[in-house]
Amino acid sequence: MRKTGQVVDLDQKVNWLVIKQLLPYLKEFRWRILFALLCMVAAKLATIAMPFLLKGIVDGLSGESVTAVEPVVESSTVSPQAIPAWILTPIALVFAYGFFRFANVALGELRDTLFGRVTERAIRRISLTVFQHLHALDVDFHLNRRTGGLAREIERGTNGINFLMRFMVFNIIPTLLEISLVIGILLTQYGMSFGLVTLLSVVVYIIFSVLTTNWRHKYIRAANEADSKSNTLAIDSLLNYETVKYFTNEKYEANRYDEDLKVWEGAKQTNRLTLFALNGGQALIISSAITALMYLAVNQVNENQMTVGDFVLINAFMMQLFIPLNFLGFVYREIRTALVNIEKLFDLLTRQPKINDQEDAERLSLNHSLKHENESIVFEDVHFGYDTKREILKGISFTIEPRQTVAIVGASGSGKSTIAKLLFRFYDPNQGTIKIGEQSIHQVTQNSLRKSIGIVPQDTVLFNNSILENIRYGNPSASNDEVMAVIKMAHLDQFISQLPEGVDTLVGERGLKLSGGEKQRVAIARALLKKPPIMIFDEATSSLDSHSEAAILQAIQEISGNYTSLVIAHRLSTVVNSDKIIVLEQGQIVESGSHTELLQHKGLYSKLWQVQQNNDDE
Ligand SMILES: Nc1ncnc2c1ncn2[C@@H]1O[C@H](COP(=O)(O)OP(=O)(O)OP(=O)(O)O)[C@@H](O)[C@H]1O
Ligand SMILES: [Mg+2]
Repeated sequence: MRKTGQVVDLDQKVNWLVIKQLLPYLKEFRWRILFALLCMVAAKLATIAMPFLLKGIVDGLSGESVTAVEPVVESSTVSPQAIPAWILTPIALVFAYGFFRFANVALGELRDTLFGRVTERAIRRISLTVFQHLHALDVDFHLNRRTGGLAREIERGTNGINFLMRFMVFNIIPTLLEISLVIGILLTQYGMSFGLVTLLSVVVYIIFSVLTTNWRHKYIRAANEADSKSNTLAIDSLLNYETVKYFTNEKYEANRYDEDLKVWEGAKQTNRLTLFALNGGQALIISSAITALMYLAVNQVNENQMTVGDFVLINAFMMQLFIPLNFLGFVYREIRTALVNIEKLFDLLTRQPKINDQEDAERLSLNHSLKHENESIVFEDVHFGYDTKREILKGISFTIEPRQTVAIVGASGSGKSTIAKLLFRFYDPNQGTIKIGEQSIHQVTQNSLRKSIGIVPQDTVLFNNSILENIRYGNPSASNDEVMAVIKMAHLDQFISQLPEGVDTLVGERGLKLSGGEKQRVAIARALLKKPPIMIFDEATSSLDSHSEAAILQAIQEISGNYTSLVIAHRLSTVVNSDKIIVLEQGQIVESGSHTELLQHKGLYSKLWQVQQNNDDE
């Protein structure tokens, strides 16, 4: 697959003030930056000196006096009388030329070395800030984002910073510096016409480059869009390789991909033609300027107002000047792109999480071992919908007494997992309160709340790491012995002993190399390792066979005396021992009570129970 180009709307307004936002990240290296800038100026001075040396050499060789041109001498900082004759011999000047050439490159390298660190530190700081900020954002943000797109945004932003630093500081500024110096020198040393022609050509060149570059934007954008479209398709198709194979749609996918590639190819071609126009126009302006200047110079040499050395000097200046100018169109466009990308990166930082700690939020004061009475969980008339137009929970009220187990059962989509998410405060209820002990979860810090709750989620996703590390994630400071203990509790030991690499076996992307039941057991082990006072099991054993399920439930039962727990289950047989069972239907509690109470009640629960019993019997 090709590397995706920068897909940026180039017609977008560029906010140059973004540069200001970068400044705080540069502060810590201000001395380094100053040195780098000094190196840059010194390197430029060396560049400017070189044509003068060339002139000296040529004049020396052609036997003309260096002092032939009056103005050069008079306005030189060093008067020729003070310079010993040997320094002006061509040989000495050649050595000096070599030295300056080397100094120019060496200073440039030094500047890059010094400044590279600054850029990298800034990128490191900004990347970390963005990463932390993204983790601070609410679940909704993460559900709605496209991971690929987000990763691109961050990557483009940091690349943009890199580019901006390199080219803004070390291409645009030095080029402008050089242009003014050269024009200044030409004006003072060789008269108005030389200075004016140079100035005029530079101005025409810049205007032409900027206008043409702007005109090209739409073609570049079309090419980039085609590029990104074909890429998205390819990635999506590869991610779904299994589905493609199940339906033997390889050919269909290839055709779709090729359609997009065709568009990309065409767009690229138009793009290249416009580049031809840009480069051709620039070359024309440069050639005309150089021809005009040489024409002037030749005339002056003929009239003996100038030496051959001066002719060489002017020629050298022009060459030196237009090489960096050549990049100007490119740099201008890229800097605009970089600024847009950086702005997008910083925009991520301005996104505010919807769920925030209150200013006076306290810690959730749960003392697992001492204050049992504080651990009750209370839902009071909780209304909630992910969308304002569709209410999912319609006035839910229930209490889980400390160290009790409450089960929630009900049809798929009735809102069971939503209750767990609200308890974690991934969302705030639209109405009603959720309390743990005396504290509303709205008034405690999210960190202390989430630290107190362990969950085995309905869909477990694992990190692409070893089984051991995935389990240890529940408590990164746990010792190996502790991890082994929970592996036993989750009945994973037998499975792990069959693996050639044991606990160090890698689980694959999102844990896809493990079976559904194995993944669930890893999730159970991980939650147990966290040792929180409150536990949520959301269909924690749904992928297990009845035998393993019974064994794990037994293990959970043994320790559940230590937890206040909420169990969500489809299979009613797994919740018969709960202290209380809540039956949820369409976001409302329709029944609640113990297993026997509910059977006697002969409502929905007893019907479900009958159905499941019959199925099991069959
Ligand atoms: N992030 C979300 N945005 C919008 N709607 C959602 C979101 N998450 C869940 N829903 C909707 O809320 C409803 C309740 O979902 P929930 O996950 O709580 O159901 P559940 O009772 O756990 O079902 P299941 O037994 O299938 O797991 C569903 O209709 C679902 O489509
Ligand atoms: Mg669910």
